[in-house]
Amino acid sequence: MICIGWDQSDLVRIGPEPSSGGMAVGLFEGFAWTAGSLPEMQEVRLKADRGREVVRIGETVRRTTFPWSPAVHRLLEGLEARGFPYSPRFLGIDEHGREVLSWIDGICGGDGYVEGVERGATIWAMVADPAGLARYAQLVREYHDAVAGLTAADDACWATRKGGPEPGELICHLDLSPWNVVWQEDGQPVGIIDWDYAEPADPIRDVAYALEWSVPFCSDEECLRWRRFDSPPDRPARIAQFASAYGLTNTAGLVNSVLDGQQAFYDREVALAGRGIQPTADDVANGYLEVVQARIQWTLDHRDLLE
Ligand SMILES: Nc1ncnc2c1ncn2[C@@H]1O[C@H](COP(=O)(O)OP(=O)(O)O)[C@@H](O)[C@H]1O
Ligand SMILES: [Mg+2]
Repeated sequence: MICIGWDQSDLVRIGPEPSSGGMAVGLFEGFAWTAGSLPEMQEVRLKADRGREVVRIGETVRRTTFPWSPAVHRLLEGLEARGFPYSPRFLGIDEHGREVLSWIDGICGGDGYVEGVERGATIWAMVADPAGLARYAQLVREYHDAVAGLTAADDACWATRKGGPEPGELICHLDLSPWNVVWQEDGQPVGIIDWDYAEPADPIRDVAYALEWSVPFCSDEECLRWRRFDSPPDRPARIAQFASAYGLTNTAGLVNSVLDGQQAFYDREVALAGRGIQPTADDVANGYLEVVQARIQWTLDHRDLLE
């Protein structure tokens, strides 16, 4: 159990009517819980970046919204209607204007790109394992199968574009990193979180982003030091394994797709920072674009390790 102030096994779902005690949310009437020996439904802070926060209250997560969040909420509702089991349920907006999402129990977060975070290291172990890599690829595929055919209104506003998918596109997640997957301890993925950047795109973008972080596209030294590899990864073999588990018949063009994705990531950071969106604006002011540029350069310089 991570990041929470009590053991979830104490919680008992008692029905759909508003709670008579303890539930701290006014507009949200989806669940009521008996709290037993729990403290009042207190907020447990999961993350606080400038301008936005993520907290847990009971079996819900509350997140600061973005201007484009309504489109993401329609996506989550569409996935729920299709019975997709891995996305959080959108449960409404609370009295503080935060989105209310269902809590998915398991191991996630730790923002794996930051070295030294214990939980990040646990998550690297999930995808360093070849079986976990395949399960990760299958999860991306299951998402794409579930979202196929889902549209959006012409005036739907996403993080960096408007409208529904064009031919050949799906509403992609676009932040489907190993740490935005919720894992069981046995390495089984059970959820996908952090949907803010979802928008229509070529589905290869989700594949490319997952490859970048799981192959991974970084040095042997980094793989051994903190990405939980016991020996330098055979990157072409891992790309092939991911591709096959996702359902691609070959790996042609995938390294270029990762490069395109890295550039698109860079461009999104510039665009969001330019609009003053937090925490991106702060990240960019603090030099994050140089970090992203270094990732692009690593890929350009190490094609021999990748193909
Ligand atoms: N639906 C959820 N279920 C369980 N944990 C969640 C959920 N949403 C967010 N979290 C936790 O909160 C952290 C931050 O939330 P996330 O949606 O990933 O925001 P950020 O964009 O800041 O990474 C996650 O790393 C995870 O630990
Ligand atoms: Mg996240």
